[in-house]
Amino acid sequence: MIATENPPSAPEVPFPDGYRMWQHVSSAVLKPTNDPAASTPKADDLAAPHGLMSNIYANEKAIEGYRTGDFPEGAVLVVDWFVLEERGPMLAQGPRKSVNVMVRDARYAETGGWGFEDFNRDSRTERNVGPKAVQMCFECHTKAKDRECVFSVLKP
Ligand code: HEC
Repeated sequence: MIATENPPSAPEVPFPDGYRMWQHVSSAVLKPTNDPAASTPKADDLAAPHGLMSNIYANEKAIEGYRTGDFPEGAVLVVDWFVLEERGPMLAQGPRKSVNVMVRDARYAETGGWGFEDFNRDSRTERNVGPKAVQMCFECHTKAKDRECVFSVLKP
């Protein structure tokens, strides 16, 4: 099924170096669920009985995109996923589950001009998506096609 693979011209999505210094967009908690459609890749190889938490970060070009509604080439968005663990009265940030990345680049024509990748846990090289971006990421993100496939909203 050639149509579901990135064309050969689509480069590997680079690891988003330094994203922890970028602007924070929003955070969320993903409640524990058995619905595989609701979990991101490899969720089940890392037990998360209390669910997951996420922090979204955006580089400067992506911030411009949130503001103007038009994400320029080079915009990068990151979702940093962590397992929630019990710590006294708190559900606190536990081990990292994965790093979701979207990078704005016209060469990713098959996936709406966004390159999608999911780096496993703390790895900068272990990729969970590769050529499967259409099924694993884009098919859901097209639901936000009126917003250039970006779901989250920046609230200054
Ligand atoms: C079932 C639907 C669904 C799938 C599949 C999915 N996402 Fe998302 N994604 C979302 C939603 C909803 C948000 C907004 C989350 C929030 O606001 O906290 C989001 C947010 C993001 C963001 C931050 C920018 C934005 O759109 O808000 C990135 C980056 C991202 N996803 C990457 C990925 C990658 C990479 C994959 C594939 C491994 C993927 N997503 C698969 C639904 C999905």
